[in-house]
Amino acid sequence: MDLDTFVRALPKAELHLHIEGTLEPELMFALAARNRIALPWKSVEETRAAYAFSDLQSFLDLYYAGAAALCHEQDFFELAMAYFARAHADGVVHAELFFDPQTHTARGVAFETVLDGLERACRAAQARYGISSRLILCFLRHLSEDEGFAALEAAQPHLARLHGVGLDSSEKGHPPAKFVRLFARCRELGLHLVAHAGEEGPPAYIVEALELLGVERIDHGVRAAEDPALLARLAREQVPLTVCPLSNVKLRVFPNLAAHNLKALLDAGLKVTINSDDPAYFGGYIAQNYIDTAEALGLSRGELKRIARNSLEAAFVTEAERAPWLRRLATLPD
Ligand code: HPA
Ligand code: ZN
Repeated sequence: MDLDTFVRALPKAELHLHIEGTLEPELMFALAARNRIALPWKSVEETRAAYAFSDLQSFLDLYYAGAAALCHEQDFFELAMAYFARAHADGVVHAELFFDPQTHTARGVAFETVLDGLERACRAAQARYGISSRLILCFLRHLSEDEGFAALEAAQPHLARLHGVGLDSSEKGHPPAKFVRLFARCRELGLHLVAHAGEEGPPAYIVEALELLGVERIDHGVRAAEDPALLARLAREQVPLTVCPLSNVKLRVFPNLAAHNLKALLDAGLKVTINSDDPAYFGGYIAQNYIDTAEALGLSRGELKRIARNSLEAAFVTEAERAPWLRRLATLPD
């Protein structure tokens, strides 16, 4: 079996995926025309050419500009269906989708419009592809905690339709400590908790996310490697890290894939997963992330299976949902 076939055959969960980051320029332009929204680019080609990033912020500026094309329930539905088709082709059996409601409500798009469209796509993906999914509301950390509380208030009537909350956007200067009260409230509401930490921010932000916010997984977390005590703790506690290798290279967290520390984290015993983050912007969906990383770092089939197993074990699902995926994974060769 060649690597591509093997990777696509691995039953895997995608746990770090911003649905707004799956907006391909073709759909962006189609939606912008339909909604009479002006984009900062003249064409699909010019848009793709603009995707040369120097850091997280240079990406976020374009990502928020592109998201302006999304206005109606049907737009969010089409966006997520395009993702699920790709995910299915990549062997994803379960996806936990991040969405950024504040990006949309700030433009006058109702929280319900976003949620209704995404949820309809989640149901359709289950029916069409057998993919299960969850929705995780991400708070924008460059905004205030009070603005986060306002987003939570808009979500409150729909809590049963959400599985968790996360924290994304500009990391540097916006430590997890800024959101202690908000995450405490979300915990009381029974939501799962995750946060981006240690992508561009220091290892101390990972410690804060664990200790002050009480998160169950760390999104990215690659800068943990700079703190041996933290590394040992993450291994001991088996805290899942949702690593996104192609994203890390595009945003210059690492100069190239061969320099990525994913294998070192795996060798140190951490519960590492591979995910695509914002695949429309970073040049590859989840299977491409597995393949390119395996080639660059020399990951074995056994290591790829372990990464896929980690993703299934770290998913916010019941044991009854997880068991058949794990059984199927175990049938693949090492
Ligand atoms: N980091 C922070 N915020 C984000 C990202 C990311 O990788 N993608 C979308 N929002
Ligand atoms: Zn992310």
